Amino acid sequence: MDVQRGQWSSKLGFIFAAAGSAIGLGNIWRFPYVVGENGGAAFVLIYIVFVIIIGLPYMIAELALGRSTHKNPVGAISAIIPGSIWRWVGVLGVLTGVGILSFYGVIAGWTFGYIIKMAVGKIGAFSEFVSNPWIVLLLFAFFMLLTTLIVYGGVERGIERWSKILMPVLFVLLIGLIIYSNSLEGSGRGLTFYLQPDFSKITGKVMLAALGQAFFSMSLGMGLMITYGSYVSRKDNIVSSAFYIALFDTMIAIMAGLIIFPALFAMGESPSAGPSLVFVVFPKLFTQMPGGLAVGTFFFLLLSVAALTSTISLLEVPVAYLVDEKKVSRKKIVWVVAAFTFIVGIPSALSQGATEFFSNFALLPERLSPVDFLSHMSFIFGDFSLAFGALLLSLFVGWVWGGSKAANEIDTGSPFFSRTRSIWIFMIRYFVPLVVFLILLNLFGIFD
Ligand code: TRP
Repeated sequence: MDVQRGQWSSKLGFIFAAAGSAIGLGNIWRFPYVVGENGGAAFVLIYIVFVIIIGLPYMIAELALGRSTHKNPVGAISAIIPGSIWRWVGVLGVLTGVGILSFYGVIAGWTFGYIIKMAVGKIGAFSEFVSNPWIVLLLFAFFMLLTTLIVYGGVERGIERWSKILMPVLFVLLIGLIIYSNSLEGSGRGLTFYLQPDFSKITGKVMLAALGQAFFSMSLGMGLMITYGSYVSRKDNIVSSAFYIALFDTMIAIMAGLIIFPALFAMGESPSAGPSLVFVVFPKLFTQMPGGLAVGTFFFLLLSVAALTSTISLLEVPVAYLVDEKKVSRKKIVWVVAAFTFIVGIPSALSQGATEFFSNFALLPERLSPVDFLSHMSFIFGDFSLAFGALLLSLFVGWVWGGSKAANEIDTGSPFFSRTRSIWIFMIRYFVPLVVFLILLNLFGIFD
């Protein structure tokens, strides 16, 4: 392999980086509110099923394609069949990275703002905070700057080392918060909502939301795992790595729900509040808890770190593409991509009350439910484009590259894969694309 591209220092280093990408706002901010909007436990169940039967086999496919070619998404596809139109699937992935980062960075900025709010003990109303144009833009710019500096300076030494320390700390803090929140009076109803499925709530829209959330949370569908897979060594086991990444990611999401739903019902809030949910419920929890402001400061700090390990991965995909394919200098292009993403993100930043136009932005049909610009971006890039990209990429791996060639790649370093090889080939050729296709069709309201 070419020396320039480098490798992860170890299998564990890779798992941490990939889990760092997967674990982020998607788990702690997005998962609970999507659960709340889609009726609770039945959604959680479908989500877990999708992680296992779609997310996991598909993640293995992205990693195999990346490791086999040592390339970014566009380069990887071109390496398999040079000059084909399939390469546009890679381009879609690169654009999706920019699209997701443009709104994700806005929310990461809010998280950062809440560190300060908690530290000074002046929390105020969430709606007031996010409708202040200067504050949200400043925080967004600041977060983009942090992301840029890390991607600029190299991912391994800085962020990998810190996430190895801070992610386990986040885990322990979440456990403590689960215990506290479930000890509140009236929290039991929250657990029921979260864990006792009501199957009548499952509709086509709920299935799409669960699938979109699975892709988003596991960082799938836009070639991030191709890019990160391109730095994985042939000695490493792709199957077990994917398993651990999926496991850690799902555990953190489930834990976030175990804090928020009991707390929310105990405090009489509504589970279907949407994107503001965690920013309202968590601060309320911290203000009534002994020593809560310190705990809250720490919590939002760790959440910002989790977001940062995700934003760097989002920026890394377009940067890796431009560096590999257009032969531009990494140090220059990082700034260009980040500045461009910031500009694309301005309407999202101003869509939570700061401007009327972007806050009531009804472009897509109401059935799909986005109401403001940020929700549109989240739906288009964070749900639709990821599912669509995964559909095309699974077809590419299963049929164009070929299931058995891909399986040979996976086999290298994965001693037990041979037993499940034919199942995996079936999944990637037929099952994954078919399920994703049916759910996407449903966007047009066919089964509802
Ligand atoms: N998975 C991250 C989260 O849950 C977000 C993210 C980072 C992502 N990189 C991605 C989503 C690539 C899709 C694709 O917060």
